[in-house]
Amino acid sequence: MSFPKINPTTTNSWKSLTELAAHRKTLQTYFAEDDSRAEQFSIAWEQFFVDYSKNHIDKNIKDALIGLAKESGLEAARKAYFGGDSINQTEGRAVLHTALRAKANADIRVEGENVVPEVYKVREKIRAFSQSVIDGSRKSSSGEAFTDVVNIGIGGSDLGPAMITEALAYYKNHLNVHFMSNVDGDHVMEVLKKVNPATTLFVVVSKTFTTQETLSNATTAKKWLVDALGEDAVGDHFVAVSTNITAIDAFGIQSENVFPMNDWVGGRFSLWSAVGLSIALAIGPNHFEALLEGANAMDAHFETAKMEENIPVILALLTVWYTSFLGAQSEAVIPYTQYLHRLPAYLQQGIMESNGKSVDRNGKSVSYQTGNIVWGEPGTNSQHAFFQLMHQGTKLIPAHFIGFAKSLHRNQDHHDKLMANFFAQTEALMNGKTETQVREELSAKGLSGDALEHLVPFKVFTGNKPTTTLLIEQLTPKTLGALVAMYEHKIFVEGVVWNIFSYDQWGVELGKQLASVILDEFDLENSGNHDPSTAQLLRHFKKLKKS
Ligand code: F6P
Repeated sequence: MSFPKINPTTTNSWKSLTELAAHRKTLQTYFAEDDSRAEQFSIAWEQFFVDYSKNHIDKNIKDALIGLAKESGLEAARKAYFGGDSINQTEGRAVLHTALRAKANADIRVEGENVVPEVYKVREKIRAFSQSVIDGSRKSSSGEAFTDVVNIGIGGSDLGPAMITEALAYYKNHLNVHFMSNVDGDHVMEVLKKVNPATTLFVVVSKTFTTQETLSNATTAKKWLVDALGEDAVGDHFVAVSTNITAIDAFGIQSENVFPMNDWVGGRFSLWSAVGLSIALAIGPNHFEALLEGANAMDAHFETAKMEENIPVILALLTVWYTSFLGAQSEAVIPYTQYLHRLPAYLQQGIMESNGKSVDRNGKSVSYQTGNIVWGEPGTNSQHAFFQLMHQGTKLIPAHFIGFAKSLHRNQDHHDKLMANFFAQTEALMNGKTETQVREELSAKGLSGDALEHLVPFKVFTGNKPTTTLLIEQLTPKTLGALVAMYEHKIFVEGVVWNIFSYDQWGVELGKQLASVILDEFDLENSGNHDPSTAQLLRHFKKLKKS
């Protein structure tokens, strides 16, 4: 099956959208003109209610966006994605994170072989291992139960497990799970400071097992453990997750303590694989499997729902609309739950490492904007930080508001206040406040004349700021799995339409290569060949280092 390589600007829909972009109305006008707008631009699916009516679209724009997806070959691309074709063509690999959460009876083939039985074998290993650590039957080298787990990994081998572990903290057991990612030795020492070698389990996660940060951190952690407990303790205290079995062996981790993963899983999409071992340890295997179940339900929705009612398709097309036609540079993700405080950071890797590309699938530079900058912080904290710019700044920032109808601790008073803010913000961003309203408000406060007029322009909100509201019943492993899978498929659809390869990440290589060159030069008297700015900085650094 071939993966489409269509330049989107050559489609009829692209041309229509360019014209439609010039004739948009404000959100306030769209709502005033159509009573059914809210229902028309909403999707109810399982525990999700997605209201995208506060976006700069009307029926014609939505139809043209769906036309663009069709003309870009989305249907064929989706079949290739779920079917295990090598759609990551620059690395010659399939992209099958969906197989990691497939039903046991699914048949998903990579080079003719059904991968699902192997997925379930690894899942069984995760279940048995995490259960034994949680119930204390698996002992440390001193015969004690483990109290702490340290996940050592970076990028996809850190962000997914870290984000989910935080997000599902409510479901956590007694194990304290820590994350060591940065090669910054201060980060390493701060984590080690918190744990006791005798009762700490290290999970070294690296798809390639060649990543400088992870190997350095694992080596330091191993030395710290050996200094405290002796060489023999390593076998009991270290397990690894990787595709690179030889390198793990060289590191000294025994083969029975290795959790394999496959090269058809990209790092940033790997939390569903053995990379999620720390998640299973933190919340137990049942909750981990419920997370996978939720993702699988979203996979089925994405694979089968018609485009008009397909959540990832609609959200992706909105992003394409804002990015490629309306000039938006970024997109905010504002979860109204503190549990999801790492979601924006996790999505930054997922979205920006995937779609931060400027060469299309034909190897040509693109002539349109792709990718987008994603950022955010939980509400209501973010309201007291950057919302000023969203309300009255000069930038177009489409935002996702993610909220939950029921809180977990059932503190209704707090939850009502939180959710009142959740709804109020999207309404305020859309409606704004007119000059007339400002004048009325100020005169009700007793102001008049010049004093009143002077303040009016500063107190006006133009409104017309786009938001999409994702209202979900409750934050559970299942709904979280569906939410994360929703973003994964959104990334896929955007990449298909933009005609870029979403599943490689060559852009992170150059900096890594130069870092190893510079590292080797630190001990030399003179640095190698660098630009004058870098050379000056290196000289200054070496001088300060010695002082
Ligand atoms: O930053 C590049 C990258 O390759 C990511 O895609 C990946 O998640 C991360 O490095 C870590 O890689 P590994 O799991 O192989 O250590």
